[in-house]
Amino acid sequence: MSFKGDHILSVSQFDRDNIQHVFQIARSMQPYASRQKRTKVLEGAILGNLFFEPSTRTRVSFGCAFNLLGGEVRETTGMESSALSKGESLFDTARVISSYSDVIAMRHPQSGSVAEFALGSRVPVINGGDGANEHPTQALLDLFTIERELAGSGLTIDGMHIAMVGDLKFGRTVHSLSKLLALYKDVRFTLIAPKELAMPDDIISAIENAGHQVHITEVLEGNVNADIVYQTRIQEERFPSKDEANLYRGKFRLNQEIYTKYCKSNTVIMHPLPRDSRAEANELDNDLNLNPNLAIFRQADNGILVRMALFALTLGVENILTNYECAVPWYSNKHSG
Ligand code: CP
Repeated sequence: MSFKGDHILSVSQFDRDNIQHVFQIARSMQPYASRQKRTKVLEGAILGNLFFEPSTRTRVSFGCAFNLLGGEVRETTGMESSALSKGESLFDTARVISSYSDVIAMRHPQSGSVAEFALGSRVPVINGGDGANEHPTQALLDLFTIERELAGSGLTIDGMHIAMVGDLKFGRTVHSLSKLLALYKDVRFTLIAPKELAMPDDIISAIENAGHQVHITEVLEGNVNADIVYQTRIQEERFPSKDEANLYRGKFRLNQEIYTKYCKSNTVIMHPLPRDSRAEANELDNDLNLNPNLAIFRQADNGILVRMALFALTLGVENILTNYECAVPWYSNKHSG
């Protein structure tokens, strides 16, 4: 993968070397993300930010990442406010928006839709989530976070133990993350989900065929003594009805009491967010908010660094950021990551 001019549609495009390249560029973005200085390297460039499905973090962080590199963002949110609702094809939308912009980030509720859109695009397209299929930029920021968090305990991704919890069937973030982790060595996976929401067989096979250990269970207690616990939300929007989603909501709650009883003292808690904080779900309790091993907000911050890196790489400016630097004239005590 050369990155420059490439679409980023799936984690299958990545190997360990180009993952490390993304992470190296992501680390170089820290001074800009934390407002120590600015770069205008993408001044004049336009991001088309097309979100046909709800999002807070991914949409806003794509936009902020592009702005932090000096570029401008134009966006559309929601299917109903776009011409797709009038029957326009993904190909036609791609042709038009790609002539307006230099790069496109897109989320859509159907699996494969972003790849279909990319066929009509004349500029790089970055997948911000396509149905239950993939969320490659989330997986990269998750992996970046895992590497950073484990380093604090002298651990590496090779040889680590991760427990993935919740809706592993519809949760696209765990699909993409599992495929990336399969590139590493001797990872132990504990997959905790109701059998109806189990990790898809093809992903389990890919992990096992890469030589990793997989333990599948429907019980949280006693199975979260891992290096990383990756909690997920029941993906209500992918169920036939809310009643069906309700059958599983709140089934695997992690709170401080369970953490103290069953996790290691340094188990890192992750979640792609949003966490469902309604009483009937509450999969990651607010009583964990002051737990120093709760990495969920550091994880979300890392999304800026990783998305800045992906924009810099796809537009070929990763080596000239400093040529376009300038000072930050406003007061800022911002920190990131
Ligand atoms: N993690 C994630 O994709 O969050 P949003 O749905 O808010 O974008």
